[in-house]
Amino acid sequence: MSDPWQECMDYCVEVTKQAGKMIQDALRKDISIMQKSSPVDLVTETDQKVEELIISSIKKKYPSHSFIGEESVAAGASSILTDNPTWIIDPIDGTTNFVHRFPFVSVSIGFALNKQIEFGIVYSCMEDKMYTARKGKGAFCNGIPIKVSEQQDITKTLVLTEMGFKKDPEHFRIMMANMQSILSIPVHGIRTPGSAAVNLCLVACGAADAYYHMGIHCWDMAGGSVIVTEAGGVVTDITGGPFDLMSRRLIAASRHGIAECIAKKIQQFHCGRDDTDD
Ligand code: IPD
Repeated sequence: MSDPWQECMDYCVEVTKQAGKMIQDALRKDISIMQKSSPVDLVTETDQKVEELIISSIKKKYPSHSFIGEESVAAGASSILTDNPTWIIDPIDGTTNFVHRFPFVSVSIGFALNKQIEFGIVYSCMEDKMYTARKGKGAFCNGIPIKVSEQQDITKTLVLTEMGFKKDPEHFRIMMANMQSILSIPVHGIRTPGSAAVNLCLVACGAADAYYHMGIHCWDMAGGSVIVTEAGGVVTDITGGPFDLMSRRLIAASRHGIAECIAKKIQQFHCGRDDTDD
């Protein structure tokens, strides 16, 4: 019997390869940079062209499906997640890295059915790594199965985070205090690679043990979250409670104990939701 969602996933991998090729070509040319919400929130023509390519290719084949794309939302489209099959797209996750040619730049696509992610694809373009996962079927990098790390001792972990765009003094103070509090556990180190989707894949393949972040968006998390869980890891809210894709915050970890330790050390700040104006 044919499996329609597997067909969607296979098609998504093909479209993602084309998107990745567009980004790789653009990296060899001059990049013209524009600003979004602040001087450190960047967008390029390539972000917009890649999103157009992905959405138009998928719409042609699946005209009744819905889309939430970073650049479409920036241009005023809705980011309400419904029960309809929905493609959640970040055409370039790590735009600042792309602009600087810092090597973590990804295309991230998550496909949701009844608001639950069914599969995720993250292509790390400069590393040429295609991460894929479908619910219940495992996680892969370039077709090879991947697994989270087996580390149980928080003091031997490598933790990822990002510093985001909210630079108002109170958010900045909390972000720095959180890093200090995690480093003082102590852990082996903190890294901020600059692409949320790649960070999730680094946890999924065991190169890092955990990742926490407040202030990201559903398109940064959708593809990578299922890659982490299918690789044997956990994705939770920043409090350690259930993960909510529209909540703009998460902890991803190799195991519950590690996520709980991090949740206990984190002070929260208000980052709003993707599905309200709040
Ligand atoms: C950004 C990256 C970055 C994170 C930002 C995201 P973008 O995505 O994931 O790591 O710190 O919060 O917005 O804007 O490059 O797609």
